[in-house]
Amino acid sequence: MSVIVRPIRAEELPRAQELIVESINDLTQRHGFGALASIRPASFQLFSLKDDARGLWVAESDGAIVGSAFSWVCGELWFLAELFIAPQMQGSGIGRELLRRTQLHADQAGARTRALITFTFNTVSQGLYLRHGMFPRLPIYMMSGERSTFATTGFETPLNHRMASPADLATLAALDRGALGVSREKHHSYLLADPAMKAFLFYEGQDCTGYAYVASTGHVGPVAVARPDRMGEVLDTALAIAAQGNSRQISAFLPGHCESALHIAARHHMRITLPMVLVSDREFGDWKRYLPRNPGYM
Ligand SMILES: CC(C)(COP(=O)(O)OP(=O)(O)OC[C@H]1O[C@@H](n2cnc3c(N)ncnc32)[C@H](O)[C@@H]1OP(=O)(O)O)[C@@H](O)C(=O)NCCC(=O)NCCS
Repeated sequence: MSVIVRPIRAEELPRAQELIVESINDLTQRHGFGALASIRPASFQLFSLKDDARGLWVAESDGAIVGSAFSWVCGELWFLAELFIAPQMQGSGIGRELLRRTQLHADQAGARTRALITFTFNTVSQGLYLRHGMFPRLPIYMMSGERSTFATTGFETPLNHRMASPADLATLAALDRGALGVSREKHHSYLLADPAMKAFLFYEGQDCTGYAYVASTGHVGPVAVARPDRMGEVLDTALAIAAQGNSRQISAFLPGHCESALHIAARHHMRITLPMVLVSDREFGDWKRYLPRNPGYM
């Protein structure tokens, strides 16, 4: 059975998302986590395809999509947002070939750092990445709790905050440069245009101490702060904002050594729903100052 690897077309993005959901649920069910993924619109993928098509690839066999990969670049950072193979086609070299194509994207863009977030329990993905010079660095936990619980656990004194808009792009980008070493201005433009997301800036006096996004689904993130000792207060205030919404669950994606964030999550009785790991070819970023949104957006 021959497999062709080629650039993906915009109209194929929804089918690729279906395959990704199938691949994730196959993996998480095999490891006892149940079927966690559900199909979402491919809007970030479409945004990224229009921005820089060099990072989006598909593997096709007999006219069917059997794998897909998606990487984005911001400044010197190349990030592998997705690499998924159909369950019945895994272990036959398709992932390796798709990874090679996305790594060409890193070469072409002159990226200095290569990174991704994968499942802690997937030995195959981690084996593949470490053979390509990318090593596990840091646990990151998807955590969630019932919104009703947050009313009983209570919040610290909320920080002063206001909603952010496209006029604040420079402030948002500066916070990312401080935490991650790169500007993600284009990604803020994308998130700020999403009607299901609200962005907030947090203040101590006149000083902006951080930003946080709160989705209508109750998910908090990304979050970035100017100083690591501000993360707990910013996260707690963002969770308080999320708790005023209507979602059943509240969730966040928390780096395993970001003690202040995990302390807040524990206080609100949030549970670890998915253990993941940051993988990269070199140390980068201050993960006490940044909470990713999810494994793809980072
Ligand atoms: C991870 C995934 C993308 C890899 O694609 P694939 O086509 O199955 O993998 P390949 O056959 O190209 O290569 C797998 C590599 O892992 C290696 N490997 C497998 N099990 C391993 C283990 N336990 N330890 C170390 N390496 C291992 C294989 O030897 C192979 O390397 P090689 O080609 O150098 O011999 C695919 O299995 C998948 O979609 N998994 C489920 C979803 C997922 O976890 N995606 C990654 C999200 S970031």
